Amino acid sequence: MKFFLDTANIDEIRDAAEYGLIDGVTTNPSLVAKEGRDFKDILRDITRIVDGPISAEVVSTEAEGILHEAHELASVHRNIVVKVPMIKEGMKALRQLTKEGIRTNVTLCFNPNQALIAAKLGATYVSPFVGRFDDVSEVGMNLIADLVRIFRNYNFQTQILVASCRSPLHVREAALLGAHVATMPYKVLEQLLKHPLTDIGLDRFLKDWEKAHQPAHA
Ligand code: G3P
Repeated sequence: MKFFLDTANIDEIRDAAEYGLIDGVTTNPSLVAKEGRDFKDILRDITRIVDGPISAEVVSTEAEGILHEAHELASVHRNIVVKVPMIKEGMKALRQLTKEGIRTNVTLCFNPNQALIAAKLGATYVSPFVGRFDDVSEVGMNLIADLVRIFRNYNFQTQILVASCRSPLHVREAALLGAHVATMPYKVLEQLLKHPLTDIGLDRFLKDWEKAHQPAHA
């Protein structure tokens, strides 16, 4: 399973890259807006830290504007993946981007039929949002289970990129279901590593070792 970091914050990306655990980065307009910096400068900084797919989202909602932005973003670096919203105009643009060989990530996917359309149109990735289902008392992982089954039925090459992961449980469930990628905030990545029994066990090992290696009392 690939881990992508879901942020536009360079410090978080730099820290996470030191673990060697992140295979790519996803951004979205809200995450970029939080940084208060030029979008392309952020993208260039990310490409210098992570050598993997970096999702950059368009903000146009008409096919012509989406294509124009897509070409601009794709020209920043070979690792840029253009994020396109799951709307009719986005699908028109997606079809053309697929023909041009520009890698794409169809975002804001909330039902299996949307993902099926993205896959039929040759999207590189499709981003079903799980956390936002949980926000409205639904079970986001049910969508992932449907997508894994549907994509296996037709051997689609589009990768399921589980987005809006809010906890380590989302990552575990996504892995159990066989999703290709989970994208997560830095906080969740850090949580994946942690277990209180690990800390307690290490503490005990070190204390026992110290006790056994105390210098003999004179
Ligand atoms: O890239 C999509 C992801 O950032 C959305 O996450 O937590 O805003 O639902 P969230």
